[in-house]
Amino acid sequence: MPLIAMIPGDGIGLEVAPHACRVLDYYREERGLPLDLWHLDLGAERYLRDGTTFPTAAADRIANEASCVFLGALGDPRVPGLSYARDILFGLRFGLDLYANIRPVKALTDSLVPLKGRCAKDIDFVVFRENTEGIYVDVGGQFKRGTADEIAINEDINTRKGVERLIRAGFDYAKRNGKRTVHMADKSNAMKHAHELWFRCFFEVAKDYPDIAARHVYVDALCLLLIQDPRPFEVIVTNNLFGDIVTDLGAALQGGLGMAASANVHYDDPKRVALFEPVHGSAPSLAGRDLANPIATFLTVGMMLTHLGFPEEEKRIESVCARAVETGHCTPDVGGTLGTKAAADWILNGLRTD
Ligand code: IPM
Ligand code: MG
Repeated sequence: MPLIAMIPGDGIGLEVAPHACRVLDYYREERGLPLDLWHLDLGAERYLRDGTTFPTAAADRIANEASCVFLGALGDPRVPGLSYARDILFGLRFGLDLYANIRPVKALTDSLVPLKGRCAKDIDFVVFRENTEGIYVDVGGQFKRGTADEIAINEDINTRKGVERLIRAGFDYAKRNGKRTVHMADKSNAMKHAHELWFRCFFEVAKDYPDIAARHVYVDALCLLLIQDPRPFEVIVTNNLFGDIVTDLGAALQGGLGMAASANVHYDDPKRVALFEPVHGSAPSLAGRDLANPIATFLTVGMMLTHLGFPEEEKRIESVCARAVETGHCTPDVGGTLGTKAAADWILNGLRTD
């Protein structure tokens, strides 16, 4: 039976993760899906209590026994520097070699679209963000720190294997999902070594997918085009840092961070454990105020259910979430008046009666 490791984490993660558990409990108890939940006490509280960040025993059990991990959010102002959060988040992403961070950008209702003259059907693309290398690897250092001669370096690591497998995942996804175009965003006009590799690799891989148009776009231009006219975009492949930035822009197009879901997967072996997280982060200023939008969490659980072989359930979750926004049964960030719990109750009830 698939084992799902639940890490609520910090801030609003602690408020939304219980609703992920409720929806999974509902599917297990009332609809007979084979799911088993395992609750892990990791995050800032635990770190402040006993110094634990991401223990080897937990990492090993996740790697060997779990099918999925759900992570609420990490980050707490009581722990400056957030090294415990990086231990957990990067421990999962890098440790499990989850090289594809898949972030759908889809507006569920017209009311969520912030662009003049555009509607929900104009915003429907998926970003494949490289998730195990780039500037995120901890290679670099500081020299003469605190002096006038200070030097700070973060190396941007791009390997042929890492770049190629992510690009291939994007094309494969496009092919399986009837998409006609894949865009690759880089900055090869400035970063001529690392991003020339992306550019060359992209068009080499594209030859294996003759029915899909391969389009290159500089990442700065991509930001412009996504606002001016997001319609041509279906699948975007890009590196770790650009994917991080572009998906926040994408979240704005779909109604804000409260609507953005993500899956971190080892794409070419779906049997390997995968990590699912709402994109929003711990949002300390919202924490404890019943303001967090639970929809990103529901959509993220939907992605998890598809991963586990239940794609119809993801569709149902998505349609109930769209209805919640359409009818105002949602939090203020997406035009409603409900708190986190009441919005989550409405959606759960909608799933029961759908
Ligand atoms: C994200 C976040 C993380 C990232 C932070 C918290 C390190 O912004 O998942 O988008 O940059 O990957
Ligand atoms: Mg981010």
